[in-house]
Amino acid sequence: MKVIGVNGSPRKKWNTATLLENALEGAASRGAETESFHLYDLDYKGCVSCFACKTRDGKSYGRCAVQDGLSALLNKLETADGILLASPIYYGTVTGEMRSFMERLLFPYMTYTDPPGSLFPRKIRTGFIYALGATEEMAKDRGFDRHIALNELFLQLVFGASETLCSFDTCQFEDYSKVFAPRWDPEKKARRRAEVFPVDCRSAFEMGIRIAG
Ligand SMILES: Cc1cc2nc3c(=O)[nH]c(=O)nc-3n(C[C@H](O)[C@H](O)[C@H](O)COP(=O)(O)O)c2cc1C
Repeated sequence: MKVIGVNGSPRKKWNTATLLENALEGAASRGAETESFHLYDLDYKGCVSCFACKTRDGKSYGRCAVQDGLSALLNKLETADGILLASPIYYGTVTGEMRSFMERLLFPYMTYTDPPGSLFPRKIRTGFIYALGATEEMAKDRGFDRHIALNELFLQLVFGASETLCSFDTCQFEDYSKVFAPRWDPEKKARRRAEVFPVDCRSAFEMGIRIAG
């Protein structure tokens, strides 16, 4: 059982990365072999609409034909038994790097059939972890639920199963006194980091256990 984690945050040790690490530890606690990748270390672009992955009898049918810094990761993911994606929310959606990665990951496997089908060789479990500065209420007001539902839908369609974990109201800055951000109360954020973030990390660990099946 191999579980692969993909970190879509530019920060390798802050909220998103920590949640993902906990999820991978959960998977490892069930005997899974785990590996993680930082998208910001890789040099790649999103889908370029070449349609090689859709070309009848083409040598790249069902696979991304673009060869760049993402290719090795996409090849590894084809052999995964579980996939964990993690991203901060930037302007209401995942980071640009995560979005571009998702285009390259999902589009080759999705068939333009009615209903849509999947060319991914197996049914596996996937999880998506989101870290966001907004409170749960703020996120709901801005329609974030819809965003989650769409990503769940595409992941389910391609891989078979998908679940979601949101870590709301994250502590964005290590030291709020050094930045101009009067919107946030530093004490509230520190309390949240001390009291709620560890609970989110535990939920991530449990998600990892489920992904490892
Ligand atoms: C460019 C940028 C845009 C952001 N936009 C949002 C947003 O739309 N909604 C939100 O809740 N948080 C937003 N945030 C806050 C981050 O989602 C939050 O700080 C998250 O914890 C960052 O993940 P990290 O700690 O792993 O870096 C934004 C942060 C940045 C840097």
